This record gives sequence, C-alpha cells and structure tokens, in this order.
Amino acid sequence: MFHLVICRNYDEVSSEAFKVMKGVLDQKKDAVLGLATGSSPVGLYKKMIADHKASGRSYRDVSTWNLDEYVGLGKEDEQSYYTFMHENLFDAIDIKEENTHIENGLAADPDAEAKRYEAELKKVTVDLQVLGIGSDGHIAFNEPGTPFDAETHVTDLTEQTISDNARFFDGDKSKVPTRALTQGLATVMRARKIVLIATGANKADAVYDMLKGPLTTDCPASILQKHNDVTVIVDEAAGARLR
Ligand code: F6R
Repeated sequence: MFHLVICRNYDEVSSEAFKVMKGVLDQKKDAVLGLATGSSPVGLYKKMIADHKASGRSYRDVSTWNLDEYVGLGKEDEQSYYTFMHENLFDAIDIKEENTHIENGLAADPDAEAKRYEAELKKVTVDLQVLGIGSDGHIAFNEPGTPFDAETHVTDLTEQTISDNARFFDGDKSKVPTRALTQGLATVMRARKIVLIATGANKADAVYDMLKGPLTTDCPASILQKHNDVTVIVDEAAGARLR
C-alpha cells in the first residue's frame, strides 16, 4: 500500500522523509534502519544531523544496514558507499561504528560475502528502510530482470546505472565499478516500513511504473506494490506522470 506525497522542492521532500524517520526513532530508541546511498537521501541525512545537534537525539542504540556496495571498493576508497555513509551521516551523529553494517566490497569471495550479509540480516527486522529509485526502476541495485525472490547477491550494473552514477566519478563512465553487492528485492521487502525518495524528471517514468504499472521484473520497484507500508515522496518533476 502506497502513501504518496508530492512536494514542491527537494527541501520539502527531505522534511517529509524526516517526518517518517522521526516517527520511527521517537517510538524506538534502538531502531534498526535500512539505509541507501546516492543523491536522494542526502537531504534526509542532513535533517537527521540537524535534529541530532538541536535536540540531542541519540543514535547510540540504533543500528543500520546499508543496501549495497560496489565490488572492488573498500573503506579507504573515496567513492565507496562505506565512505559515503560516514561523510553524509555517521561521522556527524553518535552512532557506534560496530552498529553500522555494509557489504564488504573487497571480500575475496563476493558471493560468499553476499550470503554472509543476508544471513546476518535475517537475524534482525528493519524498522524503516530508506530507498531511492534508479531511472531504470531499480531499488538497491536490483536491476531490471532481477527475480522478486532475490536475496543479497552480486550483480552487474546496467549501462543506464553506470552512466547515471558517472557523475560521482568525475563524469567518467570508465571509472564506475561494473559490479555491486546488493540486498535483494526479497531482503528489502522484509522491512516493516519503507520510505522511498525520488526527485527530478529522469525519475518520472520509473516512479510511474512503480506505482501504476504492472507488477513486473522489468520495473523491479513495482514489487513495492505488494508491501503494506510504503511512503513515496517525490518532487513535482518525479511525480509529473502521476497527475
Ligand atoms: C543506493 C541505491 C540505489 C539508489 C538509486 C538512486 O544505495 O541502492 O538504488 O538509490 O540508484 O540514486 P540517486 O539517489 O543517486 O538518484
């Protein structure tokens, strides 16, 4: 079941997403959060940091599980999602490093690493999963064609995703890793509550297909039609086809 919020701008999108986050954190000081990287959640993370500074809300008992990591990039790498999370959220709040989890992009055996991560994730229930959506309809790095029952796995990124993400790699597609470790669609669907953020005209088709299209692996995000608690927060450009 979708709850749809259409906002005027990115700041409003981030505030609406923070309202959902705050609702969960207010209820449970040891909340389990599922987190995403990329541009979409950065404003939400800024609001979480501002709230932490202003209200003193503590993340000492909170734990986090990230969606994905590039194969081949490690903690030391500027472009790893490990580094992204530290720069955009973790270093500015009082979360404990040992309570933050992300796949190891440098694992010698990425398939075994995927299995290990999934097994760990099965021991917890994510209270709130934060998602973005790819212009090709992916959530986490579940690219079109990924089966709905997929768990954490290694995937090849599509040409579309590689060109979309080149902006983080000096605009150079050849620098973007071609493989990632990612939670599967079945993994994501286990979360109690989901908030999905999408902004910009290049997301309009994916947002439409997710909400109004058929349930099909051509649009991996359409699986969310089967979840009973999803809030989708978009700006007018990303929501343009919904009017
Ligand atoms: C990131 C992730 C991806 C992104 C998606 C949108 O952890 O899993 O699914 O959410 O590619 O990326 P942005 O927000 O950069 O447009």
